[in-house]
Amino acid sequence: MTNPVITLYPQQKGAPLGDLYGIFFEDLNHAADGGLYAEMIQNRSFEFCSIDNKEYHGLYGWTDGVGQPLRSEALHVRVLTDQPLHPKNPHYLKIDVNETFELQNTGFNQGLALSEGERYDFSLFARTPIQSVNITVQLKEVDGSILAQETIAVKNPEWQKCEVKLTAKTTTRTARLALVFEAGTNCAVDMVSLFPVATFKGRKNGCRKDIADLLAAMNPKFMRFPGGCLVHDGSLNAEDRDSMYRWKNTIGPIEHRPSRRNSWGYNQTLGLGFYEYFLLCEDLGAKPLPVLPAGWDPHHQQAVPVEMLGEWIQDALDLIEFANGNTATKWGGMRAEMGHPEPFNLEYLAVGNEEVGQEFFNRYDHFHKAIREKYPEIRLINSAGPFAAGSEYQRGWNSARKNGSDLVDEHYYQTTDWLLANHDRYDHYDSTGPKVFLGEYASWGNEWYNAAVEASYMIGLERNADKVALACYAPMLANIDYVNWRPDLIWFDQAHVYGSMNYHVQKLFTKFQGTHNMGMEVTGLAAPKLLEEKHIAGGIGIVGDNAEVSYRNVRIINNHTGEEITVADGKINAYEKVTFIERFEETDYTIKFEFEKTGGQWDRGFQLNFGEQNTENTFVWLLGGWQNQDCMIRSVREGRISDLTQTIWKVETGKSYTCELHIKDRHITSIVDDVVMNDIEAKVPILKQFYTNCTLDETCKKQYVKLVNVSEPVTVTLKGITGERLTMHKLTAEAKAVNDFSNPENFDYQQQELLVTHETAEIHLPENSVVFAEINN
Ligand code: AHR
Repeated sequence: MTNPVITLYPQQKGAPLGDLYGIFFEDLNHAADGGLYAEMIQNRSFEFCSIDNKEYHGLYGWTDGVGQPLRSEALHVRVLTDQPLHPKNPHYLKIDVNETFELQNTGFNQGLALSEGERYDFSLFARTPIQSVNITVQLKEVDGSILAQETIAVKNPEWQKCEVKLTAKTTTRTARLALVFEAGTNCAVDMVSLFPVATFKGRKNGCRKDIADLLAAMNPKFMRFPGGCLVHDGSLNAEDRDSMYRWKNTIGPIEHRPSRRNSWGYNQTLGLGFYEYFLLCEDLGAKPLPVLPAGWDPHHQQAVPVEMLGEWIQDALDLIEFANGNTATKWGGMRAEMGHPEPFNLEYLAVGNEEVGQEFFNRYDHFHKAIREKYPEIRLINSAGPFAAGSEYQRGWNSARKNGSDLVDEHYYQTTDWLLANHDRYDHYDSTGPKVFLGEYASWGNEWYNAAVEASYMIGLERNADKVALACYAPMLANIDYVNWRPDLIWFDQAHVYGSMNYHVQKLFTKFQGTHNMGMEVTGLAAPKLLEEKHIAGGIGIVGDNAEVSYRNVRIINNHTGEEITVADGKINAYEKVTFIERFEETDYTIKFEFEKTGGQWDRGFQLNFGEQNTENTFVWLLGGWQNQDCMIRSVREGRISDLTQTIWKVETGKSYTCELHIKDRHITSIVDDVVMNDIEAKVPILKQFYTNCTLDETCKKQYVKLVNVSEPVTVTLKGITGERLTMHKLTAEAKAVNDFSNPENFDYQQQELLVTHETAEIHLPENSVVFAEINN
């Protein structure tokens, strides 16, 4: 058998790759506080409260000298609000003690991580009404041994900042910060802070170096921030603790910034705010890509009236001025005052995050018009919702075309099978309209196979660089002890960090992106392997979703013969399941039924399973779903879901619905009360023999041949190589292998030099490998 051949045509320059590969930062999984933001003290400002998390209170994270949690009821140590450090930072701690009193903070995870000989910047704000007091500041081990100690004096009745550097005697990950107050102390403290001196690029109020170093190693072209759902989940009043993410709350001196409820169930200090995000982008060499809310919260269905959008639009215009305006402007001046007179060169701005509902799109138009008028150079990003297809996806694209948005933000988290089935998704997109910003995507897992399949999908993104302008994996960071969402790109605790398998794939693509696609031809490829049948066969039944549903007139019709199977009327409750038929083998059939939701604990509906092999492997017609907002077709593979298409819809209790589901081969159409709700081709997952794309880098005069094999081993012949040698970067691992703290690089990475003879080289691709050949000219 002859090898498949890739012939390179370096003279043929294809689509520019621009800023294709970037990163996405959202403060979930304690990605900022207790993560990238290098502050080591948890609840430094005594602002934690039950709005953030029902466990929280003003002294959360603080203990006495023997590690006993503190509550504010004790009279000698109370969280108060009169004469605060700043009205936006209203709480502080009042210490009024007759005896020596020790206050401790354990930081995040199991304690503070210190390194021997490293210096730490300690600071606090304090005031004392009567006489000067001394506070002993210690870093100590759980057993009480002191690792560093200094004394600070508080002398003023007004708030004063006291600072001191501490040098750790030993390395530990379980230290505490202790403040020891002498007997007779009467003073107030706030903003108790500890940062390593060695932050990323040595920035004050900066980022954890080890985590940021991993980001820097990726060479991301852009960074999307500050989220995700946390941008638009919240109330409409910027003064509220649980308001949507309003960037103006996040700048200025950190002690003047309000605390915020992070919608992922914890507190956001906003110490890592928009100024710091812009700085981080600059330090990473990544273009900033901020996301702003549009006054519409799809999670709680609240919207600012369109006639009151002015303030929100002004926020967007002011943000551009903050980033790019000269120092004579109000917001440019603010940037200069914070320490950065040079502009941040903002090019991209996203309005909205995976939006659903016409309410958003009614508002987007106004943002778009105002921003375009004042700043035509800004590349505006619209939103296509959280699904790969369907009504909200379409609404986003329609709005983008109507308004002339530069990009559309698509999001989807899917199975590896979906990524394989949809490898050619962007081959069919229009290259003349708005470009794709794939702002969030991942397969469900951090195993090597996930990473390798994502690599195969990225080949498809890159090949379509004339349509796909930007792409970033999501989410980026996860503190192992505070997980809201998995999988994630980078995992860490208070002391260590590692990149997932997926990280190493992203890094390879980002590092060796290239400036343009390059001409190439592939011949001799074996036929792709189908991973599923060409039609949808299997069990059919109904499953509860914590709602009570009655169903009647169920009929399963063979559309070839007209034969019908009928099912007795019935009811389901909570999570019950009723199987209508164990296995239905036809290639063209219709399932008809009527149903009514009669009650249930949550605002949910139910689902119809079809093509079911078992509960872990089935197709689903979801009627209601999470938050009862969806009518969608879902595929479940090994317990992981891919939402194939969605329409915004709600099941009303007490209303009867007439439903039909048509299945022809792999084409699925759902109808409710004579209205087509979903219409989708559930593509068969296929394995190509390998996946490839070639790019060239005009700046460093290199060519990159990128090869991904998620199938059996294969040797590829590369022809038309203009250089004399190749550098191969080969990543392989067991399909199920993962990285972790004990084995942070549980893969095989080989860098090899290969001599080129007669412009030809043979490249072996082991099973599940990602291989990049770097050609130096
Ligand atoms: O990346 C995690 C979450 O996924 C984001 O907040 C949201 O945009 C999406 O639903």
